[in-house]
Amino acid sequence: MYTAKTFTIPDLDGISKKSVDEHIGLYQGYVNNFNAITSAAVELMSDAEKHAHAISELWRRRSFEFDGMRLHEYYFEQLEGGTSAPNPSSPFGKQIALEYPMGGDGQPQLVLKNIGNMRGPGWALLYWDPVGKCFQTGFSGEQHQGHFVSLPIILALDVWEHAYLLDYGTKGKGSYIDAFFKNINWSVVEKRFDAASA
Ligand SMILES: [Fe+2]
Repeated sequence: MYTAKTFTIPDLDGISKKSVDEHIGLYQGYVNNFNAITSAAVELMSDAEKHAHAISELWRRRSFEFDGMRLHEYYFEQLEGGTSAPNPSSPFGKQIALEYPMGGDGQPQLVLKNIGNMRGPGWALLYWDPVGKCFQTGFSGEQHQGHFVSLPIILALDVWEHAYLLDYGTKGKGSYIDAFFKNINWSVVEKRFDAASA
């Protein structure tokens, strides 16, 4: 059983407090639903033959709820502690310079912005591949499909409509993504990279 985390999010530039508060409420729903689905499925297992279909459907839904929970934790943790610029002399900064030598908008933000702007709800994700020793970027439809399942996540950008509808309306995904990148505490991202690449 999981307990919803609490986050201390400062006032953000371009993402309202109301939007953040409602978004955190939605995150708490994922935590509750993951716990509830798990309990319900385990209870049904007392007569697994009779409830075989229900159990299998519930179990398949667990990854939707789990990834909704965990990805939102990555998302909100990136916004805690105030904005900090990427540190070019950190291991993360050095690897970025190696793989994205164009600088500025040539950094993975550009790739993530484009992925994030794709149609449909989901997540634009920056991963680290410890085998290939390189970054990967991907789009997870909803939050449980299309993952690079073996790779640790370094940065998570929520592009479901609920992330931007309140502040920017249905056509505001691009503006919301720009605002998201203005508010990142890159030291959180750098620590993730340190852990993933150790
Ligand atoms: Fe979300």
